[in-house]
Amino acid sequence: MQNCEAGESLAASFADVVERRISSRAYLPDPVPRADIERALALACRAPSNCNTQPWLIAVASGAVRDRLAAAISDAMSAGRMKPDFPYDGRYEGVQQERQFAAAEALYRAAGIPREDKAARMAQFMRNYRFFDAPHAAFYFLPPGAGTREAADLGMCAQTFMLALTSMGYASCPQTALSFHPDLVRAEFDIEPGWQLVFGMSFGRPDPSAAVNSLQLPRDVGACTRIRET
Ligand SMILES: Cc1cc2nc3c(=O)[nH]c(=O)nc-3n(C[C@H](O)[C@H](O)[C@H](O)COP(=O)(O)O)c2cc1C
Repeated sequence: MQNCEAGESLAASFADVVERRISSRAYLPDPVPRADIERALALACRAPSNCNTQPWLIAVASGAVRDRLAAAISDAMSAGRMKPDFPYDGRYEGVQQERQFAAAEALYRAAGIPREDKAARMAQFMRNYRFFDAPHAAFYFLPPGAGTREAADLGMCAQTFMLALTSMGYASCPQTALSFHPDLVRAEFDIEPGWQLVFGMSFGRPDPSAAVNSLQLPRDVGACTRIRET
């Protein structure tokens, strides 16, 4: 009985953490204490992986490293320089494209940016490269020779990191936008040759007064899941 009650409260708090996690695009400047970052990283590394290979490297930029990277990546982007490790050629079709457009519309609406205001849309987009003012950015690398299976492992690790942060009162935003300048990131960390950058992630304490942080995007559970018994 006691176990059952404990299980119910665990399930409730887990659901709460999952539902509270959103992609936050505005942060307060206060840094996350190093002990909390280390705790969240340790929990992230509890993620499962094929044969327990743990094919990931999470490089966290804080302080001066964070500031240098924000400046260097923003400058490179403004100059039109991009050299991602993985081709950026994703084209969505059908219902995935509909969801992509709906998410973009909802984001700009939440940010108070009218559809026709291209300059404001671009400015909002460029905030990606300043980590949405977050005090930290994490960069997710795969080892040489990694493929789709290892990418799946990396995704599980990243989601565990985000849920750990949420459970501690922090927020995050996973960002493909932060994968476009891997050489700048590699130069800041002691990363062995051949490791490839898949995506980055801003994180910190969310700004509760920012309208953009009120965005709660829907999920199409019915269309995205299937259960069969016979
Ligand atoms: C791998 C990955 C890459 C993403 N890249 C970006 C990005 O570059 N910029 C951004 O603002 N959001 C990015 N997102 C956030 C998605 O837009 C967001 O997860 C999605 O719209 C669902 O919203 P939610 O996270 O608030 O639930 C990314 C998410 C994932 C999982």
